[in-house]
Amino acid sequence: MNIKDMQEKIINLKKENDICILAHSYQRREITEIADYTGDSYALAKLAVKSSGKTVIMCGVRFMAETVKILSPDKKVILANPSAGCPMAEQMDKELICQMKEYKDGYAVVAYINTTSNLKTICDVCVTSSSALKIVSAMPQKDILFIPDINLGTYIKNQIPDKNIKLVHGGCPTHARVTVKEVNKAKQAHPDALLLVHPECVPEVAAMADYIGSTSGIMDYAKKSSAREFIIGTENSIVEHLQLDCPEKRFYPLSKDLICHNMKATTLSDVLLSCEGQGGEEIIMDEEERLAAKKCIDKMIEYGG
Ligand code: 13P
Ligand code: SF4
Repeated sequence: MNIKDMQEKIINLKKENDICILAHSYQRREITEIADYTGDSYALAKLAVKSSGKTVIMCGVRFMAETVKILSPDKKVILANPSAGCPMAEQMDKELICQMKEYKDGYAVVAYINTTSNLKTICDVCVTSSSALKIVSAMPQKDILFIPDINLGTYIKNQIPDKNIKLVHGGCPTHARVTVKEVNKAKQAHPDALLLVHPECVPEVAAMADYIGSTSGIMDYAKKSSAREFIIGTENSIVEHLQLDCPEKRFYPLSKDLICHNMKATTLSDVLLSCEGQGGEEIIMDEEERLAAKKCIDKMIEYGG
């Protein structure tokens, strides 16, 4: 079977079996082409709530499928490739954060949405990379413990100096590996290009950018900008998506290493097998954990609007 045949089979199975397919924007093109929705993890979870599909297949990493389940408990949520996990979401130790909460009495724990549902149960407010600034600014608490991304946390801390933000060491291994040397090399190769960087990159790299923002922020900026050339400082799939969406502009990867292997773990065959009920993993969540994890997402909605 070739890719086109496989895509057709998936499209038919979606209709027959009332399936909604969600694809994070870092997924391969052949997957985003057959998805009902493409976007960031929170946007996808919100769209899943509205979708009529009884089954939701998440093409992304585990915490994203968990977020869908937290918001859509009555739907059958399937992670298309069970081995796809986000190292940043899984690197924080819940016991350690509980201890820090006790030690830093009165501090609000703000969790990037890239955390497990289990860790979300002990967090006060959840944020996404696109909403973090707005939400942390709107929170009544001044003392904040920001987890798990030290780079996104540093960016927020620098933007909101009147808040007392404490950081915990953690982050995205894909974005954090980009170096200043690579930025200089890319700028030298493309002197007229604007540099757009995700705040998960180290502050020294972010400081060299013309624009710092979430994946959807970077995509919107590039599409609306009158500039014609861009160096993209986020996962390399975005270079391909933007190039196909804006053929009159030119997009270059900031680094050849900006590839998230977990995001790339999901294949079109995984999606087909999940649609056939022969693959993927259903997300089963204890109701107590779901409700506890949902609290910090509800707070994000309260502060973010
Ligand atoms: P956003 O899509 O929210 O920018 O997050 C980037 C990311 O690394 C997702 O795993
Ligand atoms: Fe996790 Fe980074 Fe991959 Fe996103 S890009 S899933 S934060 S490892």
